[in-house]
Amino acid sequence: MAFKIGIIGAGGIGSIHAAILAKDPRVTLSAFFDTDAARAQATALRFGCKAARTLEELFKESDAAFVCTPNTTHEEIATQVLEAGKHVFSEKPFALNLESATRLRDRVNRSKLVFQLGHNRRFAPVYKVLRGAIDKNELLPLSVHAKMNRGELVNPPWVWNAKLTGGFLYETPVHMFDLMTFFFGKVAWVEVAARAHEHHELDDFSILLSFQSGLQATMKTFAHASWQFPFERFEVYGKHATYETFEMERISFTNGLETRTTTYDFSLASMHEKWGYVEEDRLFVDALEGKSPAPVTADDGYNVVELIEACYRSAREEARVPLGTLVTKH
Ligand SMILES: NC(=O)c1ccc[n+]([C@@H]2O[C@H](COP(=O)([O-])OP(=O)(O)OC[C@H]3O[C@@H](n4cnc5c(N)ncnc54)[C@H](O)[C@@H]3O)[C@@H](O)[C@H]2O)c1
Repeated sequence: MAFKIGIIGAGGIGSIHAAILAKDPRVTLSAFFDTDAARAQATALRFGCKAARTLEELFKESDAAFVCTPNTTHEEIATQVLEAGKHVFSEKPFALNLESATRLRDRVNRSKLVFQLGHNRRFAPVYKVLRGAIDKNELLPLSVHAKMNRGELVNPPWVWNAKLTGGFLYETPVHMFDLMTFFFGKVAWVEVAARAHEHHELDDFSILLSFQSGLQATMKTFAHASWQFPFERFEVYGKHATYETFEMERISFTNGLETRTTTYDFSLASMHEKWGYVEEDRLFVDALEGKSPAPVTADDGYNVVELIEACYRSAREEARVPLGTLVTKH
């Protein structure tokens, strides 16, 4: 029997997940729900499933639901899905402040349902190569520099509005914070300088992260850079070693002086694969089957929210902020 999966939010990312899930023989797409009923209807038609008129109607038809709505709604809708006894895949960000993150993490951890968070970058082939090199001790990271720009805060139409995104760091840079902890472990403290250029919100950040291991990383993120490549990049240095990523297209590395450079090029793969969406969705269905636990947990989501809140506080107070001491909303 196939798992019946409903999609809440029939926009950009909801359609991406639907396209991937529709190809998995273990899944039947049950329904779309969207507050824009016409959009739900049109998307449901495209994927040959129902447009639910209410969330309850979607729950009746589904074993699990994907939460693909704007950032401010994630905690509330994910909680409703859990209350209905259904498994959850929630898009990032997990939550937009520590109080909300704590409530959702505790609610998830009390339940026996599958919960997975959409930190898709972990499953992008370039980042799997990087993480694999660290796991196999081929690379011992000693120093890190990273950047993640956005071209604009124009599309989708709500991304310019910090009241809806939670702040620029909760939009696209949230992925970098997840990768930082995924690759390098727990952060001990952050120091951040930030400025606002447009829309009256901080949109240009210079971030210094110090990890519990002693490793230090710098990260730049700017919201209005145009989409000139590469807008997303890691440079990880070991002893006479450099691993550098170019978007999610390529990774090049050299291990040693006067030796060759190896490049893995994934540019011919589909965007859904290159960005990690195909694998994250497959792993969610594996978790529904009980084959393996969901790979990105509520605790992971909480840790990223804590890190982002620490960055906002450091920028505001112009001070070094240790992790684990935060109680306020930015
Ligand atoms: N992991 C990724 O790479 C990735 C990529 C894009 C978006 N996202 C995240 O996915 C979420 C959706 O982004 P998007 O780009 O698809 O946005 P979008 O605007 O294209 O789609 C969102 C949809 O949700 C609907 N909606 C709004 N409030 C709703 C509610 N309360 N109940 C039901 N439907 C509601 C809207 O009508 C819209 O159709 C955001 O949180 C975003 O951060 C993640």
